[in-house]
Amino acid sequence: MCGIVGYIGDEDIKEVLVDGLRELEYRGYDSAGIAVLQDNEIQSFKAVGKLKNLEEKTKNFNPHAFGMGIGHTRWATHGKPTEINAHPHLGEFSYVVHNGIIENYQELKKELQAEGVRFLSQTDTEVIVHLFEKSYKALNDPMQAFEATVNKLEGAYAVLLMTKVDPDRIYFAKNGSPMIVGNNDKNDIFFGSSDAALIGKATEVIYLDDGDYGYTSAKEGITLLHNGKEKTLNKKALLGDKISAQKGGFRFFMEKEIYEQSEVLVDTVMGRALDTKIQFEELDPNFFDGIDGITICACGTSYNSGLACAYLFERQAKIRTNVEIASEFRYKEPLLDPKTLFVVISQSGETADTLEALKMARDAGLKTLAICNVDNSSIVRISDYTLLTRAGIEKGVASTKAFATQVMVMWMLSLYIAQHKKTMSEEEISAEIQAIRHIPQAVKVNDKLHEKVKRLSKRYLHGHGFFFIGRDLFYPLALEGALKLKEISYLHAEGYPAGEMKHGPIALADSELFTIALMPKNIHYDKVKSNVEELSARDATILAISPERFELADDYVHTYCSDHAMSEFFEMMVVTQLLALEISVRLGNDVDMPRNLAKSVTVE
Ligand code: F6R
Repeated sequence: MCGIVGYIGDEDIKEVLVDGLRELEYRGYDSAGIAVLQDNEIQSFKAVGKLKNLEEKTKNFNPHAFGMGIGHTRWATHGKPTEINAHPHLGEFSYVVHNGIIENYQELKKELQAEGVRFLSQTDTEVIVHLFEKSYKALNDPMQAFEATVNKLEGAYAVLLMTKVDPDRIYFAKNGSPMIVGNNDKNDIFFGSSDAALIGKATEVIYLDDGDYGYTSAKEGITLLHNGKEKTLNKKALLGDKISAQKGGFRFFMEKEIYEQSEVLVDTVMGRALDTKIQFEELDPNFFDGIDGITICACGTSYNSGLACAYLFERQAKIRTNVEIASEFRYKEPLLDPKTLFVVISQSGETADTLEALKMARDAGLKTLAICNVDNSSIVRISDYTLLTRAGIEKGVASTKAFATQVMVMWMLSLYIAQHKKTMSEEEISAEIQAIRHIPQAVKVNDKLHEKVKRLSKRYLHGHGFFFIGRDLFYPLALEGALKLKEISYLHAEGYPAGEMKHGPIALADSELFTIALMPKNIHYDKVKSNVEELSARDATILAISPERFELADDYVHTYCSDHAMSEFFEMMVVTQLLALEISVRLGNDVDMPRNLAKSVTVE
């Protein structure tokens, strides 16, 4: 996702900014920009694509004297990845960079446009700079104008603003998106949306809290406010190396990405799950006209998310849905009906089999929709429509947050279609939206749970195999749990429908067969329970994951969400991810780069 840097000092400002942005590259981006204020002049540069394009554009710009600057890497959410949409955004005399999403930007934009303000970009961010300038013209005080601006913003933001009317200061605000401000021994000031951008530069830092805002200048240092009152600076020494900073203090990228799920799901939902309806700005209102079925096509984890959501499409949107493994679909000579919506799911957007299946559907005249994490990827470019999952870059080869955000996007899509087809009442949709909003909480990893799974993991390092079992939506989750485990532990694991065990696999049951039983309260609890009892009667070793204590289980992980099947789904997803992680750690494997696997499979 997006990255922010800022600097006040007498080092080469361009170098400091671009170097900071380079440290944030791992988050993923599709355009970048900087603005530098020196001698009351602001110079700004933007480029689409990688930082080397920005470096090329700025190669003759050498701001060596004292000054200040802000920089940004953008991961497109509102508006395409173009130069105009790249940050910094400018008004008449000010520049702004922003991470997050301003939820009420349309309202604010309309108000400003009605007053004659001209917008250049399609972004939500641009409202910030225009609001600031409007407030400044009314109040004639930059700090008050900034405060008034921040008070009007709803949603998540980390903002840096520079203005010619107060050329010594950088203004900042943070709510919901991370922002760090720091200084070195010379009192140069640095900003970053992650400490990766500050390591090796700042010696002490302040991790801003939601609702913090203020300004910095070389003379005044850092002035921090909260609710209009000045706040004590809680400075911490900045230690560590760059790689561990990128990992945010976690041992592995996969671990970080599991913990990050709560935060990224907020981004996935933002501006889409409104109070009483689902809105996708990316889809036009006629998007679903003439469609009477859905085919979902994907590979690996993305296939598992599609399989799970097919239950939702049929149950909620009452639309016939089938799910295909892309490598199979390509060669089965499928019958393609132009009334079918063809949905491809891909984290990378480059998976060869999925891409080729998509081309087949497109060539057969089907309407196509990509659920994807990487804008501008091959799959996105070819599809008629795209819903970005907004998971940010995923580094661990074993996919975690990409899966979570895919499921979330498709859950919202099933409600969107239900709205369109009127297969659910407004009350039912609102209740689902309430459940959606609870998910970031449901996937939060607490220390007790992680510790429990860590301890449990030592009992599951041998045996002749794992069966992850579940019913309904929890069957694809069982498939995904098994896939995670085999990818990084190299132990044999299968996902199976709980009711299907007695049709064959139960022959394997003995004390060395490990069964991970997904036993949600909201979906067929009693049926799964009796399936697990059958395994227990044959002495299989059972780890039950459930809100209900299950006496016959050898081990038990207590889950807490029982209000809605989907919150159970997401909570159990985290448990299976942690289990795979901890088993892999105990076996001494490379968690982030398991043997024989690649992050993006661009060959068939
Ligand atoms: C599993 C995993 C793979 C991918 C699969 C599809 O952890 O990462 O199974 O899900 O290769 O990749 P994308 O989603 O990029 O199309």
